[in-house]
Amino acid sequence: MIKPNTTLQQEKKHIAIFASGAGSNAQKIIDYFTSQPALQKERRAKVALIVCNNPKAGVLKIAEKENIPSLLIERNKFYEDGYLSELKNYHIGLIVLAGFMWKVPAELIQSYQNKIINIHPALLPKFGGKNMYGNFVHEAVIKAGEKESGITIHYVDEIYDHGKIIFHAKCRVEEDDTPQSLAEKIHALEHKHYSSIIEKIIT
Ligand code: GAR
Repeated sequence: MIKPNTTLQQEKKHIAIFASGAGSNAQKIIDYFTSQPALQKERRAKVALIVCNNPKAGVLKIAEKENIPSLLIERNKFYEDGYLSELKNYHIGLIVLAGFMWKVPAELIQSYQNKIINIHPALLPKFGGKNMYGNFVHEAVIKAGEKESGITIHYVDEIYDHGKIIFHAKCRVEEDDTPQSLAEKIHALEHKHYSSIIEKIIT
């Protein structure tokens, strides 16, 4: 009888969150996986590493507070080797982008085929691509007169905001919405859905 490849499954449950900013999504994901002992114990899923490209990012403070190792990455090395050996050292099997502002290098995408996901603060394929991040997205949505916006969770491939879509959730854009008020609605949707989608992917 062929034994199932348990090693691969277990490793998939070691999550690395890549983030560049405040890290509110990272915090929600950490809370989700630590607040459910069954998830940790039986399924052994955990946030094992925070990867960050910005020494001033709030997400690094979150990592410290939560006792999660963090890795501050440097651009040249990232595009040379994708920090692959560091990720392997932490047995990372799933990479979760949560407000990560650098393009993921091809080397990393090839090594983690269908194991890198991203959350985008609009309804892709609209309002995606280079320079479409954070408030720029909400400004563009309002300027275009859209009646609805939302979030997209998708696999990451070599093209910005292009990989296979896993999940959409929508919200209304009201006439008096500002980029800030829209950002709040979008963050609420992200906080509500990202963790459970990650759980589904892992299990
Ligand atoms: C989130 O809204 C996320 O969708 C967005 O950055 C924000 C990070 O917030 N990502 C992008 O715009 C990527 N194109 P957070 O640091 O509070 O989690």
